[in-house]
Amino acid sequence: MSFIGGIDFRPLQSRISAQERAARCASPAFGHVFTEHMVSMSWSRELGWNKPELVPYGPLELDPATVGLHYGQVVFEGLKAFRTDDDRIFVFRPEAHARRFRRSAQRLMIPEFPDELFVRAVDALVYEDRAWIPDDPNVSLYLRPILFASEAALALRPAHEYRFLLMAFVTEGFFGQVPRPLTVWATTEYSRAATGGTGESKCAGNYAGTYLAQEQAAREGCDQVVWLDSVERRWVEELGGMNLFFVHGRGDRARLTTPPLTGTLLPGVTRDALLVLAADLGLAVTEEPITLDQWRRGCLDGEISEAFACGTAAGISSIGTVRTASGSWNVGDGAEGAVTAQLSRLLLGIRRGELPDPHHWMHPVGPAVAGRREQR
Ligand SMILES: Cc1ncc(COP(=O)(O)O)c(C=O)c1O
Repeated sequence: MSFIGGIDFRPLQSRISAQERAARCASPAFGHVFTEHMVSMSWSRELGWNKPELVPYGPLELDPATVGLHYGQVVFEGLKAFRTDDDRIFVFRPEAHARRFRRSAQRLMIPEFPDELFVRAVDALVYEDRAWIPDDPNVSLYLRPILFASEAALALRPAHEYRFLLMAFVTEGFFGQVPRPLTVWATTEYSRAATGGTGESKCAGNYAGTYLAQEQAAREGCDQVVWLDSVERRWVEELGGMNLFFVHGRGDRARLTTPPLTGTLLPGVTRDALLVLAADLGLAVTEEPITLDQWRRGCLDGEISEAFACGTAAGISSIGTVRTASGSWNVGDGAEGAVTAQLSRLLLGIRRGELPDPHHWMHPVGPAVAGRREQR
């Protein structure tokens, strides 16, 4: 691993003009406007991680027998880079994402990608493509590292070759520029993850299986799916690709809960940040299981005043209405509540560099951390 510190990601020539870049970034729907470059690395049993390169973003040539395509030995991450008002660039908690990436890889028997290498790759790409992060505070750069089995062999065993790629796309909020309270569909028909499975890993296979439930939710007029546990089908786990929080009580008596990490939930970096920020604000906060029926009854008798979902892509999204096959209910008055709004402002303020960052979550990216002097 001694090469890690010494990697030289050589800067590349830009082929896209500033005007073209601005045109592409004008309305960046989630996952569509990719930047000009990507980081690539390979792993083999002989060499370990090798051939770190910054290369132009573009198609890959893959053997049809590539293991990742057949057996889903693929993990990924999602994190964001922000430009502040005073033109500095930061990435939110890359070390935490590096740790989760490593743990996801362990679960799928993929060779671990060292945290230091992860952060180094993030620094290199964000610095190289920094011109793609617009001044608009509602727009950020979403970074997508992926690690997949690249060996061409169909033996049913962990592959002997892997590829790491890090790409980036420009994005506004996951739910568009103006967030509104979500209407959510609690499915008792489908589940996202099972005990002993891969729910706590960010692996590709966890996502394709959710599309059918998401389509059902859309048919019911809902934005996202509430995932329940797969055994009793009553414990609330997550919302789509986000973690959930509940506000019990109001004002000085408000307290926050979130479902515990039982192994079937993804341990969100945003969830972790909010547990810390809520405690900073003096809110009582606990990891506490909740059933769908407790959620319904809590809203009907006023004990639960707010609910919201959180994640890197969407930030914090309040939940206005819950629908199930047997009825629906509003959370509070159906609008964003005070605690949700306060936490949302705090998280956004830190991510945009407008508020102090007491936990040092904002990782600065510049010529020094990118490992080379400004060369242009
Ligand atoms: C299933 C699932 N839950 C929760 C989250 C939120 O995690 P984070 O806050 O790290 O983005 C994500 C997004 O990565 C996810 O895919």
